[in-house]
Amino acid sequence: MLRIDQVSKVFYPGTVNEKTALEDINLTVSRGDFITVVGSNGSGKSTLFNLISGTYPVTGGKLLIEGKDVTSTPEYRRAFTIGRIFQDPTKGTAAKMSIEDNLITAYSKGMKGLRISLNAEKRELFRKELKQLSMGLEARLKDNVGLLSGGQRQALTLLMTVLSRPKMLLLDEHTAALDPRNAQIVMDLTMQFIDKYELTALMVTHNMQHAIDFGNRLLMMDEGKIILDLSAEEKKSLTVPKLVKLFKSIKKKDYVSDEDLLTE
Ligand SMILES: Nc1ncnc2c1ncn2[C@@H]1O[C@H](COP(=O)(O)OP(=O)(O)OP(=O)(O)O)[C@@H](O)[C@H]1O
Ligand SMILES: [Mg+2]
Repeated sequence: MLRIDQVSKVFYPGTVNEKTALEDINLTVSRGDFITVVGSNGSGKSTLFNLISGTYPVTGGKLLIEGKDVTSTPEYRRAFTIGRIFQDPTKGTAAKMSIEDNLITAYSKGMKGLRISLNAEKRELFRKELKQLSMGLEARLKDNVGLLSGGQRQALTLLMTVLSRPKMLLLDEHTAALDPRNAQIVMDLTMQFIDKYELTALMVTHNMQHAIDFGNRLLMMDEGKIILDLSAEEKKSLTVPKLVKLFKSIKKKDYVSDEDLLTE
C-alpha cells in the first residue's frame, strides 16, 4: 500500500536554523494495516505525515503508494488517495458553509473531483450517513458548521473524510483536543469507518493506552527516527509502563521523563 524508502527531511538546509526532522526512514505499510504512532514532541511524527500527504517535499528518498512512485506527486493529487485529520476540529471543515455544502464538497472529491449537485437524493444519503454519528446532525443539514461543537465538528470531519473515499487515513492526534466523552465517540466512529470502508490507517497519539489498544502495529519515533516497530503479537502483552520502559532503554537515558512520551 505504502512504501517509504530511505526518506529524510531537513528544514532550512545549509542555514543556522538547519533541522533534520526525519532521518533515513524506511517503512512498509500493508493494505488494511492500522498503525499507531507514538513519540515525544518534535520527534517527527507530523513531519512524516506531511511527507506522505505531499504537504512538504522530501529532502531525500522515495515514497510509493500502491507501487507507484509519488515522491513528486503534488498534495492535491495525493489527496484523492489520502485522507488526513488533524488535532484541531476547525481544520477539516468550512465554518461558513452549511453541513450539506461541506458534505457535497467531500462527496465530489470522492468522485474524483466531479462537481456533484446537491439534490433530494443526496440530502437523503447525507441524512443517513449523519445518523451514524449519533449526534443529531441529520436534522441540521442547513446549519453552518461554525455552530457545531468541537466533538460534532470532528465527527463530521471524519465522515467527510470517508465520503471522499480515500484508501488511507492519516490521523494526527485527532481526538486530543476533545473532552474524554467526545474523544471516545470520535475514536469509536474512527474504528467503525476503518472497518466499513476497509481503510489503511496511521494514527499519531500521545495516549499510550490507545496506541496499545488500537491497531495491529505500533511505531515509536524519536529524534527523526523509527526506534521501535511492534507487531500485533508483540502489542498483545504490552502495557503502558512496559512501553515507557522500552522507550527509556532505547534512549539509554535514565533521566528521560515519562512525560516525554505521555504528554498530550
Ligand atoms: N515547517 C517546519 N519548518 C521548520 N521546522 C519544522 C517544520 N515542521 C516541523 N519542524 C521541526 O521538525 C521537528 C519535528 O516536528 P514534528 O512536528 O514532526 O514533531 P511531532 O513528532 O509531530 O511533535 P508533536 O508531538 O509536538 O506534534 C521539530 O524539531 C520541528 O520543530
Ligand atoms: Mg505533531
